Amino acid sequence: MTAQRIAQILRAGQPGETVTIQGWVRTKRELKKFSFMEVNDGSFMANLQVVIDQDFPDYANLLKQLSVGAAVSVTGELVASQGKGQSVELQPSQIEVVGGCDAETYPLQKKRHSFEFLRTIGHLRSRTNTLGAVFRVRNACARAIHEFFQERGFLWVHTPLISTNDCEGAGELFSVSSFDLANVPKTDTGVVDYSQDFFGKPAYLTVSGQLQAEVMALTFRDVYTFGPTFRAENSNTSRHLAEFWMVEPEMAFCDLVGNMDLAEAFLKHIFATVLEQCPEDMAFFNQRIDDTVLATAENIINNGFERITYTEAIAHLEKATQSFEYPVAWGQDLQSEHERYLAEQLFKKPVIVTDYPVGIKAFYMRLNDDGKTVAAMDILAPKLGEIVGGSQREERLDVLERRITEAEMPLEELWWYRDLRRYGTVPHAGFGLGFERVVQFMTGMGNIRDVIPFPRTPLSAEF
Ligand code: 4AD
Ligand code: MG
Repeated sequence: MTAQRIAQILRAGQPGETVTIQGWVRTKRELKKFSFMEVNDGSFMANLQVVIDQDFPDYANLLKQLSVGAAVSVTGELVASQGKGQSVELQPSQIEVVGGCDAETYPLQKKRHSFEFLRTIGHLRSRTNTLGAVFRVRNACARAIHEFFQERGFLWVHTPLISTNDCEGAGELFSVSSFDLANVPKTDTGVVDYSQDFFGKPAYLTVSGQLQAEVMALTFRDVYTFGPTFRAENSNTSRHLAEFWMVEPEMAFCDLVGNMDLAEAFLKHIFATVLEQCPEDMAFFNQRIDDTVLATAENIINNGFERITYTEAIAHLEKATQSFEYPVAWGQDLQSEHERYLAEQLFKKPVIVTDYPVGIKAFYMRLNDDGKTVAAMDILAPKLGEIVGGSQREERLDVLERRITEAEMPLEELWWYRDLRRYGTVPHAGFGLGFERVVQFMTGMGNIRDVIPFPRTPLSAEF
């Protein structure tokens, strides 16, 4: 008989049903007359309890093999459970040990392990309650994201991972090359001869799919990307990864206000969907990781985000009674401590900050009439700081070319991007949501390394 998922059984299973489950032993308790074994198949926070009577064929030998971590297939009848916390348990008629587990060396013991330790066993850590819940919530977030855009007629477009442009102009690029690093071809003047490299010019892992998303938005109006992006920024923080996933909607015939409205509705949708689809996992985070997680989610869903300009943000920060490590001055970028002060202390909810100084933002953002600020928007979240970064794009060719030159970006290489401003240009806007940051925000997990299955950070790419 085909196996049922344990989530299904624990949510809707009725006494008297015969079922087969397949999963891994989480705990085993041997008593005199019978033994308890809890099995988990990843579908649910809770385990299904299997009660094995001492009369079960080959009892003693079987129990030896049923060590924690072993893979099992169990068929039996569901019976009403005497124990608390579950409505049914399984009375087995057949138990197959599909793959044994070496109990002596298996690193996941019953005690609580630190997240630091679990990162050293990246191939096993998803079997713990917390990481299991994280990856189920991560999946629910991804599904909510696609649902949100698909319901609104956005086209999911696939932008390249290998790019020859630095979209953000921040120089945080990983090179992509097929050169033998021990023997890199050089020109007569001693510089690297990229004409001999795979693409005939320098190429990189993309930092953002935005420029290509703009191309697609000028055909399909509303599009989004959802994929990995890469940044070689050497910041060892709890919010930065070298490889992270980003969601980037891009909308033609849209201005900054439309962009903010969409971003706010989008975050509300993600939170509402995950609360609905993963109530057990979310309750677990609230209980074990951060007891404000559920209240925060309700706050996001039910209250409007604060909207202030950068200039107003600076005024608020100057009035703050607390002191900051980094100075507050108009023209300087907001640091994470400033962002957190605004969202966490002052407004106690997400804050959308708009109209940043032109000098600290990327070349493609639309210049405001004051000539000093651009139509940018960042969404700042309590505890995390920036979670979304976006803008209305510069659609005027002359202004764009001036900005590219001022940013010392290669005007020539962006010929196709500039062409978009020649052939049917329109006001358009979009943003990027850091996918891991939203999973962190949702779950209360303190370190971004623990919300992606296989984190890539400086000096760390194991597994
Ligand atoms: O603000 P960023 O750099 O914006 C862009 O890349 C734009 N091209 C997006 C757009 O308008 N289409 O990055 C967007 C978001 C940030 O707000 C942050 O949440 C996340 O991506 N992010 C990171 N997440 C994890 N690790 C990193 N190193 C990140 N860098 C940015
Ligand atoms: Mg940003």
